[in-house]
Amino acid sequence: MAKSKTILRALAGETLPTPPIWMMRQAGRYLPEYKATRAQAGDFLSLCYNPELAAEVTLQPIRRYGFDAAILFADILLLPQALGADLWFVTGEGPRLSTITTPGEVSALKPTEAIHDTLSPIYETVKILARELPDETTLIGFAGAPWTVATYMIAGRGTPDQGPAHNLIAQDRPTFEALLDRITESTIAYLSMQIDAGAEVVKLFDSWAGSLKGADFDKYALAPAARIIGALKERYPNIPVIAFPREAGDRYIGFAKATGADCVAIDNSVSADWAASNIQVDGCVQGNLAPGHMVTGGQALIDETKRIVKAFSGGPHIFNLGHGITPDADPENVALMIEAVRG
Ligand code: CP3
Repeated sequence: MAKSKTILRALAGETLPTPPIWMMRQAGRYLPEYKATRAQAGDFLSLCYNPELAAEVTLQPIRRYGFDAAILFADILLLPQALGADLWFVTGEGPRLSTITTPGEVSALKPTEAIHDTLSPIYETVKILARELPDETTLIGFAGAPWTVATYMIAGRGTPDQGPAHNLIAQDRPTFEALLDRITESTIAYLSMQIDAGAEVVKLFDSWAGSLKGADFDKYALAPAARIIGALKERYPNIPVIAFPREAGDRYIGFAKATGADCVAIDNSVSADWAASNIQVDGCVQGNLAPGHMVTGGQALIDETKRIVKAFSGGPHIFNLGHGITPDADPENVALMIEAVRG
């Protein structure tokens, strides 16, 4: 039964005649129905913590487009909040958090068992989705990878170069590593609860992996992913994991083998042909259409979509964007992309 779902088949290494498809940020501000439900919830965080409405926005793109997967509607920054950080969103700017940069602030974080007090509505959303999704649709849970989550906790906001996190590594490596360790441990607990609630696949978003170089990439992107995936595989050997070390470039090579991930998601800074011969040789890849095509559309969108499908047609592939769809995207272009993949 389970393996008849196309995403699970691709993740198990099967080459399918048509790749399954979903889209990062598929529930988002480019959709009028999302904006309406978000307004009903009041604000973004209230939407994340309202299981009925979070399930509703998760289902909206499934109803509209029939994607092969639904991704839980939540955010990677809910975990820092559950660990005790203050979190709020400034309209038009993005997230803000209270900063964690000292040994005292790291030890004042809540114990891992306590995260569920804050995150239990998220598990409730997963339960609703597991019940309501169509039989053919795969439910994906997720968390931020420890490095990416740490960059927000250290800087208190998104940063173009992750400077504050790199500075903490340079100035006080033990404190940085203690923080990374706490995030890693609580991410295992968080994803385990999502799986217990009904998530069939989990994805680790390491949006800022690209700024880690050399040994730091090994220690702070690769090793935490390997630890999380190892712990999950021990408890849930049949739950596939997608890793997304965004902008890892050459370091995408071997990432799946080194971490135990079933699939590596790739951004659009690497070419599909290169990825097919260097990454897909190890198993399933997900990606990698540039999100800008969802704004500009036209023949270029169709051509580029078909080129990516063709490049990956010799192995297991899940079609997706290289990063999240943006609020200025045209919903019609999403339909055009799906038609180019399936038609
Ligand atoms: O993919 C999905 O649709 C699932 C839900 C999801 C969201 N965020 C919803 C969201 C997922 C998987 C995320 C992951 C996330 N959140 C990442 C990693 C992936 C990436 O995009 O690199 C990061 C870095 C965050 C942190 C975050 N959340 C930022 C920086 C922002 C502000 C930027 C923006 O797009 O507004 C958010 C807000 C956010 N998360 C929105 C959504 C739909 C927009 C909030 C709104 O409705 O105003």
